[in-house]
Amino acid sequence: MAPPQFTNSNGQPIPEPFATQRVGQHGPLLLQDFNLIDSLAHFDRERIPERVVHAKGSGAYGVFEVTDDITDIVGSAFLDTVGKKTRIFTRFSTVGGEAGSADTARDPRGFATKFYTEEGNLDLVYNNTPVFFIRDPSKFPHFIHTQKRNPETHLKDANMFWDYLTSNPESVHQVSILFSDRGTPASYREMNGYSGHTYKWSNKKGEWHYVQVHFISDQGIKTLNNEEAGALAGSNPDYAQEDLFKNIAAGNFPSWTAYVQTMTAEQAKAAPFSVFDLTKVWPHGDYPLRRFGKFTLNENPKNYFAEVEQAAFSPAHTVPYMEPSADPVLQSRLFSYSDTHRHRLGANYTQIPVNCPVTGRVYNPHMRDGAMNVNGNLGATPNYLATSNPIEFREYALQEDQEVWHGAATPFHWKATDDEWKQATALYNVLKKYPNQQAHLAHNVAVHVSAADASIQDRVFEYFTKVHPELGAAIRKETLELSPRK
Ligand code: HEM
Repeated sequence: MAPPQFTNSNGQPIPEPFATQRVGQHGPLLLQDFNLIDSLAHFDRERIPERVVHAKGSGAYGVFEVTDDITDIVGSAFLDTVGKKTRIFTRFSTVGGEAGSADTARDPRGFATKFYTEEGNLDLVYNNTPVFFIRDPSKFPHFIHTQKRNPETHLKDANMFWDYLTSNPESVHQVSILFSDRGTPASYREMNGYSGHTYKWSNKKGEWHYVQVHFISDQGIKTLNNEEAGALAGSNPDYAQEDLFKNIAAGNFPSWTAYVQTMTAEQAKAAPFSVFDLTKVWPHGDYPLRRFGKFTLNENPKNYFAEVEQAAFSPAHTVPYMEPSADPVLQSRLFSYSDTHRHRLGANYTQIPVNCPVTGRVYNPHMRDGAMNVNGNLGATPNYLATSNPIEFREYALQEDQEVWHGAATPFHWKATDDEWKQATALYNVLKKYPNQQAHLAHNVAVHVSAADASIQDRVFEYFTKVHPELGAAIRKETLELSPRK
């Protein structure tokens, strides 16, 4: 095949790419030199805003396959037949760091998957931890600011980090996971994904359940210890990107098995925690995991910017028979993601190929125009809905016994109670089964908090003493060794 011909962005063939039009041989440049101006002006505009969180990430395509019949729980078409396959795109990420930050940072990992189904795109925008730091969504920007940089010093700041967390103790379950070695996964391949939130799935009869989804890594869970993660952050900040890309390129395709936990409305009323509380897990013994699928990542993107940077996931991108629950953090996320995509990528972000639903599925007559409209803009078809413009509207089974909410608009802050520590304590007790993991949790906290002021350290000792007195004491001992008090 002949090599491609070099042109400017207008397609005009250019014989000499490095030539610039000058007055005489060494004089000033000419404004008429479109080739130079075109080239510099495009370069000047190469950057788009990075994601406000989850800026550093890696992505790959793959395939999801239904392994077990689940039609008694959910009516979505892509799950209606055992063996049915759906193309997917998954993006993994860290949360707090900038686009060039280290992959092995202590941080939750994002695990977002887009399913290109025949009923539109389903985005499952999950993390590698089954719980989260907050359950009041208005805390999210405050919380994230404390994990990022101090506005004055522009440094990561152990004081504001722990000041926030100890002031908001509903965070303790997630913080205990984060400071265990699970906070530094060995790779994106060797970690699980969790919905965290409760969602609502219904079947074609209209019967609905609350659900939590788990993607369990078929590679098993592997973690780094604090020092290994720190060393890799220096020697190879793109460690996880390299691991994912090279494994897929070598044909060593990672896979995950998908499970669902279900609860009826009656079970939810009787549960010892609220299903809308994102800081709590559903114990597996009480709510068993039911397998329904498996997915494999088997294709690297050809272009990182086009496919990974421009990927736009949103919990609001859903398909028939899958709905959000009333979890307030989830409800807020339904707004926030598409809002940020419109800012980051533009009003027509769903036309970008990686975000585009399966060809031919989108028909919404009034959604026209806007910046970067590149798909033909629905041609000559009417740009409004009316009786002279016949359109088919698909109906779904209405849910039976729907949730009913009553009451005046009420400001509600879901304040922490003594209950917050119970599941964190249970987690700490489980860690005993894994060699050194209780000690690593104490060590990982101590190393981090030793950079904080004494008054903040004291609050951290108290916070973890409520998880377990032995943990609080171990953190106190090592912190004071690392940062002796005068
Ligand atoms: C009120 C709470 C939250 C808000 C306001 C929020 C907001 C955001 C925003 C604005 C982004 C950047 C999206 C983009 O630019 O494309 C993002 C990314 C992300 N969030 Fe959240 N988030 C919240 C909680 C959560 C929770 C609880 C989870 C997991 C259970 C989560 C998982 C993710 C993931 C995986 C990404 C990266 C998506 C990607 O790979 O592009 N977030 N979030």
